[in-house]
Order: sequence, then structure tokens, then C-alpha cells
Amino acid sequence: ERIIGIMGAMTEEISGVVDLLSEREEMTAGMRTYYSGRLNGIKTVVVFSRWGKVAAATTVSNLILEFKITELIFTGVAGALNPDLRIGDIVIAKRLVQHDMDARPIMKQFEIPLLGITFFECQREQVTIASNAATELLGNKHLHTVFDQKELEEFGIENPKRVIGDVGSGDKFFSSSQDKHDLLAKLPTILCVEMEGAAVAQVCYEYGLPVTVIRTISDVADEKSPIDFVSFIKKISSTYSVEIIKNIFRQ
Ligand code: ADE
Repeated sequence: ERIIGIMGAMTEEISGVVDLLSEREEMTAGMRTYYSGRLNGIKTVVVFSRWGKVAAATTVSNLILEFKITELIFTGVAGALNPDLRIGDIVIAKRLVQHDMDARPIMKQFEIPLLGITFFECQREQVTIASNAATELLGNKHLHTVFDQKELEEFGIENPKRVIGDVGSGDKFFSSSQDKHDLLAKLPTILCVEMEGAAVAQVCYEYGLPVTVIRTISDVADEKSPIDFVSFIKKISSTYSVEIIKNIFRQ
């Protein structure tokens, strides 16, 4: 039976998704609360993982072993590294890399020990579904029924776009242009950074489960990012998560 796990790193990103569940039940273990129920008739478990690779990896392990999920969707925010990305754009991960993995000189920088993999690849079907869901939300007609104009203006969101590509994950919040450029010099294809995606992708790879990572740009990973990030999370990120998840389940 198909059982979908939905994870977000923060309550703000996931609380609206919990509200979509029918026949809802709660279970708490290891400082996480798992909400199971049905979304559009499909068995679904929603949990917020907390921040960072360990928090995300342990949570998804539990979703797999305790809740028997057969696929995972991660939704949340990210800091943009690519200069063409703006706050409010949506990135769908095609590949995920752990930018803080560095076992040199024994392994190549960024290579996951023993797996011999640097980039975890998402399956084409998952990417397409997420991409359609994001496109639907960002379509002009839809965007303005979901957000009010003042909200969009406050964040300078205008014609937001949907991009598919590489996402970098690591236990670091980027708030310096220097750090951002240093990482881009080493991993030039990375579109954005966050703190969980590639950890979740590794666990899903090891268990043979398809993974989807969808990230809305909350800041551009520079000196302004702590302020932009906090206000984006407070005011707008939940709507993105909820609408994208609704669109995914409609397909
Ligand atoms: N998630 C959202 N913004 C981020 C940033 N600047 N660095 C790391 N993770 C993030």
C-alpha cells in the first residue's frame, strides 16, 4: 500500500499540512510528533523534523521503519546561491549534495563514504509531479487567489519562477556573501542551500524509496538572510507548503 511521508524542518512549514489530514492520529517519539491520516484518500504521515542533517535523517528513518512510508516529500525553505533566484521562487531538487561532507584525503570532497556517491538523484516522475505542482501555484491566476498583493509586495515577490536543479545541504545557516561565494566556487551548479534535503535523500537512497525535495527561496544566503528568513517563515512559507502539497495530491 502507498503511504506518503511529508516532512518539514519547522512547525511553520508543516502545521498547515497537518490541518489537511482527515482521520488524524498523533504519535510522539524521540521529540517528534507524527501525524498520520489521509490526504485525498491516500495514507499520509506528516512530521516536523527540526533543523539539520541528523534531525532529518533520524526522523525519516522512523517514518520508514515505524510508519512504513513508501515515498517521502520534503517541503521547506532555502537560501539562494544562484544569482538568478529571488525570494519566493521555488526550487525542485533534481540532485542533492551534502556540502559539508569532506573525508579528504581518503575520499573525494563531498563524496558519501562507502556509497561512492556525491549527488543523490531524484526520480524523474517525482520531479515532474513536484514541478507541475509548483508551476500551478505560481501561475498568475492562482498566486493571487492564495496570497494577497500586500504580502507579495512586502517580500518583493513578482512573477516567481520554478526551477529544477541541484540543492546543497549541510549543518550551516548561510548568512555571509563570502561563505556563499566560497561554496559556489566549489559546487557551481548548486541553486540553493538548506539543512536537511541531502540527508533525507541519503536515507531514502539506502532504503530504496523515492524522494521529493521542494524548497521555496526565503533569503539569498547573505548578510540579510537572518532577517529575511525569519519574516518569510513567519508570514508566508506555510502557504507555499500547503498549496504545493495540495497540488501534488491532486495529480
Ligand atoms: N534555509 C533557508 N535559508 C537558509 C540559509 N541561508 N542557509 C541555510 N539554510 C537555509
